[in-house]
Amino acid sequence: MQDETIRMLIRRAMDMLPTAYVPYSHFHVGAALLTKSGKVYGGCNIENKSYPATVCAERTAVFKAVSEGEREFQAICVVGGQDGIVEDYCPPCGICRQVLSEFCEPDAFLIILARAEEDYKVYTLREMLPHQFDLI
Ligand code: THU
Repeated sequence: MQDETIRMLIRRAMDMLPTAYVPYSHFHVGAALLTKSGKVYGGCNIENKSYPATVCAERTAVFKAVSEGEREFQAICVVGGQDGIVEDYCPPCGICRQVLSEFCEPDAFLIILARAEEDYKVYTLREMLPHQFDLI
């Protein structure tokens, strides 16, 4: 994937940070999901006073896209930090990795973790989730 595309996704993920609804943790997460057709779906985390009802930024982005008819994805960028200040990489939680595995190819789909536009790491989905759950 081109560096220019990665930087665009990082900016789009960062843009989602103010939208995060995080009255309990104050930990903002932003995601930007790139479809194979070139569209970008943003996502933020949305918390709930019943804590397990919280939805992560990555799943917000995936569910937005799938609900609009998109099922083929190239990459997701994830950023996050306390009070919306990004100081470190923010890897997706296990549930979000499993949800990504439902739609994304393990060796082709890229997960971009960023601290800034010029400071990022790229993993394949398989690297992040080597043994996904599957119905056998
Ligand atoms: N969170 C995400 O949005 N994505 C993840 O992959 C892990 C955690 C959110 C959930 C909650 O709102 C906050 O981060 C602290 O756990």
